Amino acid sequence: MTNSNKRVVVTGASSGIGRATAVALANEGWKVVALARREERLRDLVAELGADACEPIVCDVTDDASVQGAVERILAGGQVKALINCAGGAIGQDRIAQCNVEDWRKMYDINVLGTLRITQKLLPALEVAPGGGTVVVISSVAGIEAYEGGAGYCAAKSAERVFAQTLRFEEVGKPLRVIDVSPGMVATEEFSLNRFHGDQAKADAVYAGVPNPLTAEDIAECIRWALDQPDTVDVDSLVVRPRAQASAQRVYHR
Ligand SMILES: NC(=O)c1ccc[n+]([C@@H]2O[C@H](COP(=O)([O-])OP(=O)(O)OC[C@H]3O[C@@H](n4cnc5c(N)ncnc54)[C@H](OP(=O)(O)O)[C@@H]3O)[C@@H](O)[C@H]2O)c1
Repeated sequence: MTNSNKRVVVTGASSGIGRATAVALANEGWKVVALARREERLRDLVAELGADACEPIVCDVTDDASVQGAVERILAGGQVKALINCAGGAIGQDRIAQCNVEDWRKMYDINVLGTLRITQKLLPALEVAPGGGTVVVISSVAGIEAYEGGAGYCAAKSAERVFAQTLRFEEVGKPLRVIDVSPGMVATEEFSLNRFHGDQAKADAVYAGVPNPLTAEDIAECIRWALDQPDTVDVDSLVVRPRAQASAQRVYHR
């Protein structure tokens, strides 16, 4: 049974952490508005969760008009209690001496500006949700620790963490929680594949020999738990790594 007070928007809901979060929250009675660019994948999600629990909206978070259209549909559908900013990812892993400016531009646009575009437009609705609203930002340990070849992604994820901190400052006193979730290595199907421009061997090598990287479901459970705290309890920041990862640079491989 969905609860009409618990309506949550999840960006990046077509795969990986966003999809797992949509499933975890729907199973807890949340009505999920699932956003991503790939309509077919969103349809699969609706088929799994049921049309009562999940409403799909095709949206490209790098496109102002697309986000505006999605927000209008979201608001027309009722109140919004929470927003999970999960759309994002890494492009390339080249050192600063060789990296591509365009890759950096895309990473900033998806991760940082994408989060800004939709959060800014949903803030008024979140702040009038009964009991208050919640913004969750999925940044990364990459936003805390730099690593070789990671500068563009680390800078974007660091900007997302700063976004969350600043929003918390700016909205203090209003009924809004801002939660940053910073995952370490999560073995999702597409994250590394996208990072390495579709090179499956390079993507597989990231996780090869690493005992039990995190799963998308592990992070979804953290998000579910943080959201389920009382409205007045703001889980400021959650840093979650697999046991085999001491830092971005220090990963145990068998
Ligand atoms: N996997 C990890 O190790 C890890 C670790 C720390 C943080 N994170 C962060 O967690 C988030 C999810 O990562 P993941 O591993 O689940 O990656 P993923 O499986 O590649 O999922 C990325 C999601 O973002 C969506 N997306 C990408 N570009 C978009 C755009 N322009 N507009 C709308 N949606 C867009 C994708 O959907 P469409 O392609 O259908 O649009 C997809 O649903 C990302 O922000 C990532 O940076 C991941």
